[in-house]
Amino acid sequence: MTGARLLVTGIGGAVGSGLAEFLAAGEPWAEVVGVFSGERSRDAFLARAPEAVRARVRPVVRDLTDGPATQALARELTPARRTVVVHAAANVSWTASLQAARLGNVQVTRNVAELARALSADTRFVYVSSAYTATDGWEYRNTYEATKAEAERLLRSEYADLCPVVFSCSLVVGHSRTGAISRFHGIYPLLGLIERHEPPLLPGGRDRRIDIVPVDWVAGELAALLRRVANGDPVTDVVAASGTAAPRLGELVTGAVEALDRARAAAGRAPLPELTLVPFRRWEFLRRSLDAWQVRGIPMPDRALLDRLIGVYRPYFEDDRVLPPTGTVTVCPPWSEYLDAAVAHWFAQRAGRRPRALARTGDAG
Ligand SMILES: NC(=O)c1ccc[n+]([C@@H]2O[C@H](COP(=O)([O-])OP(=O)(O)OC[C@H]3O[C@@H](n4cnc5c(N)ncnc54)[C@H](OP(=O)(O)O)[C@@H]3O)[C@@H](O)[C@H]2O)c1
Repeated sequence: MTGARLLVTGIGGAVGSGLAEFLAAGEPWAEVVGVFSGERSRDAFLARAPEAVRARVRPVVRDLTDGPATQALARELTPARRTVVVHAAANVSWTASLQAARLGNVQVTRNVAELARALSADTRFVYVSSAYTATDGWEYRNTYEATKAEAERLLRSEYADLCPVVFSCSLVVGHSRTGAISRFHGIYPLLGLIERHEPPLLPGGRDRRIDIVPVDWVAGELAALLRRVANGDPVTDVVAASGTAAPRLGELVTGAVEALDRARAAAGRAPLPELTLVPFRRWEFLRRSLDAWQVRGIPMPDRALLDRLIGVYRPYFEDDRVLPPTGTVTVCPPWSEYLDAAVAHWFAQRAGRRPRALARTGDAG
């Protein structure tokens, strides 16, 4: 037992829920506090969490955009000699306005850092970020990347006393064995487009890598980092990414279509039509031609929906900059071993429902 308290923001999210399972499995914390944005997300988490997680996590509800309410937590919690704060709460939308992204990512990080200072004399801060961003020499593809990096710079410049350590991960998908994940960001809206709208064509660079990682591997690496922090071992920033083992877009789309076809066959449904990836320039030419010639024979999804979704993914389908894996303690499983489970889980949860996933296209993280 280290006697340290662990406080996790965003514990109900995709990464936080994965981490919670590791914390239930006997991590050496005196107390685990999980912060939820509201009662609804707290109750949903408690309803789906295994008994061991419910027994381990003390849930608190706080809107972390509210500075004074966040500070008040320090008075409400039992005093502790030592605290480790894992800040995983974020606005993960790729389409948020700069103002909304700054509030959810920069202001919230400042509020949580102020709370961390007030929690105990000896508090360490672990900031969860994205392998798709960096603080220096990076051209940001959206407000999410820009504000995640801004928050990291803020921590390093104004909160050095918390010895911030950064845990960055690439796009998180479901558990490597069960496919389970609590939220469908990242590649999932793309699955929704393919499954529900069956487009014959999509734009994208076939050879661009899409760095995906299963949530249990990410959570295990984060738990290992937390153990090192709790033990007072030397720590460096971690990037939980799959690097050169990541699938190329062509491989990912083919693998996803095959996995969807297996799930559809099991549900007694026909396989998807053939799906071809075309370069963006050709895609734009085809779109203009289809419009100009009013072609009806090629069934395409609703124009506005398609343009919105493609607009969100385009920066990543054209530019695959991502940080290389660093400081991880285990090897990420190969994507070909877990993609099927991730797709099957999503299919079981979402297929057949109206496209809510598409309405939240920007939530990609
Ligand atoms: N998922 C990915 O592919 C991915 C990839 C790279 C990096 N990351 C990073 O990993 C971290 C977690 O991401 P995620 O995918 O788990 O995101 P998520 O599923 O959207 O979860 C975000 C969490 O933030 C919490 N939150 C947001 N605003 C809040 C507020 N005002 N007050 C309190 N809590 C608030 C939410 O709480 P409630 O659930 O209670 O509403 C939610 O649990 C983020 O820092 C993200 O940048 C994620």
